Amino acid sequence: MDVKFKVKDLSLADQGLLKIEWAESRMPVLMKLREKYSKEKPLSGIRIGGCLHITKETAVLVRTFMAAGAETAWCGCNPLSTQDDVAAALAKEGVAVFGWRGLSREEYYWCIDQVIASEPNITLDDGADLVVTIHEKRPEVIDGIIGGTEETTTGVHRLKAMAESGRLKYPIIAVNDAETKWDFDNVYGTGQSSLDGILRATNILLAGKNVVVVGYGHCGRGIALRARGMGANVTVCEVDPIKALKAVMEGYRVMPMSEAAKIGDIFITATGCKDVIRREHIALMKDGVVLANAGHFNVEISVSDLEEMAKSKKEIRPNNVEYILPDGRRIYLLAEGRLVNLVAAEGHPSEVLDMSFANQFMSVLRLVKEKGRLEPRVYEVPREQDLEIARLKLETMGIRIDDLTPEQERYLKSFEAGT
Ligand code: ADE
Repeated sequence: MDVKFKVKDLSLADQGLLKIEWAESRMPVLMKLREKYSKEKPLSGIRIGGCLHITKETAVLVRTFMAAGAETAWCGCNPLSTQDDVAAALAKEGVAVFGWRGLSREEYYWCIDQVIASEPNITLDDGADLVVTIHEKRPEVIDGIIGGTEETTTGVHRLKAMAESGRLKYPIIAVNDAETKWDFDNVYGTGQSSLDGILRATNILLAGKNVVVVGYGHCGRGIALRARGMGANVTVCEVDPIKALKAVMEGYRVMPMSEAAKIGDIFITATGCKDVIRREHIALMKDGVVLANAGHFNVEISVSDLEEMAKSKKEIRPNNVEYILPDGRRIYLLAEGRLVNLVAAEGHPSEVLDMSFANQFMSVLRLVKEKGRLEPRVYEVPREQDLEIARLKLETMGIRIDDLTPEQERYLKSFEAGT
C-alpha cells in the first residue's frame, strides 16, 4: 500500500484514546472476547478491510481484531460520521485508517480504494459500498477474499440483490439480521441516538411536539418509542400494511405523508427508500419544521427539492441549516439529510454496539474457520451465536435467568400432552 494512513489531525490522538477507553469500559462482551482470543490469536495472518463509521465503538472492535492477530485497514462508511480524534488515535496505534469528517464524494471513494489496496482477506461493511466497489472496480482482489460481513439493513438489501442477480462473488454474513443486533441496536441504539442528534442540533423541547416518524421498521420503532417517551405526539407514515398496523396498535396515529406533512413539527425518516419527503410534502409544511434522517443514505429527504424551492439558506447552528422558502416559511434541515445520529451526535451508545460488534467479531471468526466451505451468498448468523451473545450480555449485566427443568424440556419437545 502506498499511504499508511490519512486522517485530519494526528494531534487529536490523546483525546481520541480517552474516548476509546470510555467505550471499552461500556463494551464488556467485546472485551471478554478480546481477552479470550488475544491468547489464541485465531486471526493471525488475516487482513481485515473495514468500511464502518470511524467512532470510538468501531475503534474497540478494530483493537479487538488486532488483539486476535489480524491486520486491519479502515475507512468510514459515511462522509460526515468520522470522529477525527478517534481516527487519529487509531492511526497512532498503527491502524491503516483513512477518513476524516467532511469527505467529498471523491475523497470518500479514495478512502475505500486505500482499504481495497490493502488486499483484505475479510471485508467488513456497513451499507455495502466496500463490497460493491470491489466487485465493480477491483474484481481481481476477490481471489484473496475469504468472505465478508454486513452491518446494516440497507447493506443486507443491496447484497441480497447482488446475490439474486448472480453478481455476488464471495460469502457474506448478514450481521444485521442477528436478533442480538437488530432487535437492540436498530431499536434502542437508533432510537436514542437519533433523538440525541436532533437535540444537539436544535435543543428544542420534544414534549408536546408532533413528531412524524417515516418508516416503522426496527429503527422507526425505536425512534417512535423514544419520542413518545419524551412527551411527543407521534405520527407514523408507512407503506407496508403490516408495519402500519403494528404502529396503529402501538397507539400511534398513522396517516399518509400528504396529511402528516401539514401537522408535523419534526420529521424523522428511517425507511431505506428515496424521496420519502419531497417537494409536494415540503410545500405543505408549517413554518419552522425540522427535518432529520436516520436511514443509511442521504436520499430519504429530497435535499435537491429543498434546495430548488428555497430562496436562501444559512447554517444557524452546527448541523442545522435554515432554508427560507419564497413565502417566508423556514425549514430546518439537520446533518445535510445524512444519518442524524452519527453526524450530529456520536451514533449508537457503546452498550448496545457491544452486542452488534460481538456479532461482527464472531462472524469474522466463523468466516476464517469455514474458509473455502461457504458459497457466494448471504448467510444468517447461527442461532447459537445469538444465544451466546445474549447470555454473555446478561452475565456482564449481572442478570441471572431461569433454566428449564429436564421435565420441562421433555414437555416442550413432545406433542402427546394436551388438554
Ligand atoms: N452505527 C451506529 N452507531 C454507530 C457507532 N457509534 N459506531 C459505529 N457504527 C455505528
